[in-house]
Amino acid sequence: MGKKLRIHSTLACDVLIIGAGGAGLRCAALLHERRPDLSIIAVTKVAHPQKSHTSTAQGGMAAVDPKDKVDKPIYHMFDTWKGGDCSSDQNVIKKIIEGGWEEVQWLEQKGIHFSRDEEGNIAKRQFGGHTLEFGKGDALRAVFVADRTGKGMMDTVWGEALKGGSLFLNSTVITELLFNQGCCVGAVLFKIKQGEFITVLAKATVLATGGSGQVFRITTNCRNNTGDGLAVILRAGLPVMDPEAVQFHPTGIVGPGILASEALRSEGGILRNRELEPFMERYAPKMKDLAPRDIVARAIETEIREGRGIMNPDHQIEHVWIDLRHLPDYVHEVKLKEVASFFKTYVNLDSRTQLCPVRPSNHYHMGGIPTNEHGEVQDAANRVVPGLFAVGECACASLHGFNRLGTNSLLELLVMGRYVGERVLSYLREKQVSGPKGAGEASLALFANYLEAQGRENLGMIRQEMREVMTRRVGVFRIEKGIEEAIASLIAFKQRTARIAISTKDMRMNQELLERWELDNLLDNAMTIAQAALMRKESRGAHFREDYPERSDEFQFHTLVSMTEFGKVSFGKRPIDMSIYESKGEHHEQFRVMPRRY
Ligand code: FUM
Repeated sequence: MGKKLRIHSTLACDVLIIGAGGAGLRCAALLHERRPDLSIIAVTKVAHPQKSHTSTAQGGMAAVDPKDKVDKPIYHMFDTWKGGDCSSDQNVIKKIIEGGWEEVQWLEQKGIHFSRDEEGNIAKRQFGGHTLEFGKGDALRAVFVADRTGKGMMDTVWGEALKGGSLFLNSTVITELLFNQGCCVGAVLFKIKQGEFITVLAKATVLATGGSGQVFRITTNCRNNTGDGLAVILRAGLPVMDPEAVQFHPTGIVGPGILASEALRSEGGILRNRELEPFMERYAPKMKDLAPRDIVARAIETEIREGRGIMNPDHQIEHVWIDLRHLPDYVHEVKLKEVASFFKTYVNLDSRTQLCPVRPSNHYHMGGIPTNEHGEVQDAANRVVPGLFAVGECACASLHGFNRLGTNSLLELLVMGRYVGERVLSYLREKQVSGPKGAGEASLALFANYLEAQGRENLGMIRQEMREVMTRRVGVFRIEKGIEEAIASLIAFKQRTARIAISTKDMRMNQELLERWELDNLLDNAMTIAQAALMRKESRGAHFREDYPERSDEFQFHTLVSMTEFGKVSFGKRPIDMSIYESKGEHHEQFRVMPRRY
């Protein structure tokens, strides 16, 4: 006899923000500032917004002060365009980079403590691929709070959202979007602690659910990043964009894959192979260790493949070294204190005196829910879906193209958080919306199926095997046969999920039930990543096909992937915006589709 699930209650608000990390709460803060009368519900999967993944961001946020004597926003735009392998939308690049410094000022006004230089000015550090004068010099462009920049930002945006009166629903996930006459009118939520489904009707809904890093075995992402927002979008019949564009951070700490910030190399750290050779000189003669991440990650994997890696005896994982031994005590003790403590905790090494083991670790999804430059979600025909917005890592506007530059994600999530808030304000109507007939039935049926399923398949094993396959076959290097094998494995995993029995039927705090749902989300994300990676027969940014190692003009577009039934995908295209180039304005020629050397 099946368990009777029901919708426990219905709430109504002006704006529903799903995901209370940096992007979602920056949006909430803007809304409170401009319209203190609005009712805002902010939903977070974690037990407290402070535990959002944004809090783990380390190295910094890129932003150019328009009054800077040497750096200019146009240089930052160029670096972002080139870094993304000429695949970002130029209207988005311009809009976000021009809005960057305002966010630095906003954060300062709201109390963030940016690190300072000796003169007391906001300190800046260089990150990979950031240059002056279109590649001629090195740009110090990232503002930071030691190696805990994300924590500083989360403290600030959370404080502002709280002060403004956002109602927080913690430990809560979205299971379904609600539409009425083509407009998004809210969502169905599942409250994990209480084990209850509720519907929230909202005049505007903002998805800010974060990334999908748990698709991969080794990742810098937290345990909750299971691509929930993207899975919900696919189930609503909407597409995801550029899912194949997945970033692997060059320096994950061997074993857990935890982030060892690019700031280590920015402060002078050097990557070395087993012969202690500083090998990046061979791959990026000019920028060396501070080349963009896709290039450094491939260089490390190549060193390991060609026998110049080192085997870690505890984890049986090959790696290269990062050498920090020559850095001044001040850098170890103040600027890189947190990462130093990670090396101590996770590999029992003292980065002041010992070489530290690192290897690429999945880090960021450049792809996501397609939006325009205002954060309005688009359908497969590139039309705006009224009432629905997306921002942060779950969204793809696209600033990063096929390879994100370090420190551009904090920039994006704050600036776009503000822009989305502004757009929501112009969209809001006075009238309260009404829900569709049968709201929530799909969610109830899905969870009832999970609870009723019988069989001896092991949930954790399937999740683990999927992550393993994706890391091995759809990771830093990809090839047709490997991707096809991954797709076949994903189909087999999906079939096995029908035979997972949930051992406890109590709905309250049922971690197993939640993980069952997450597994479906992960599989949906993995399938779109793999299918798009198979379709894109070229190499572009972080998407590297060994069988097609060059970028091809034939693929100069964004991939749109829809999937209404698992494994059955349909592809569409969105043109890459070239408006800076086409403007024929000053420096426009720097924004052509160009070769990428560093
Ligand atoms: O390496 C880092 O600190 C990460 C920064 C980023 O992903 O932007």
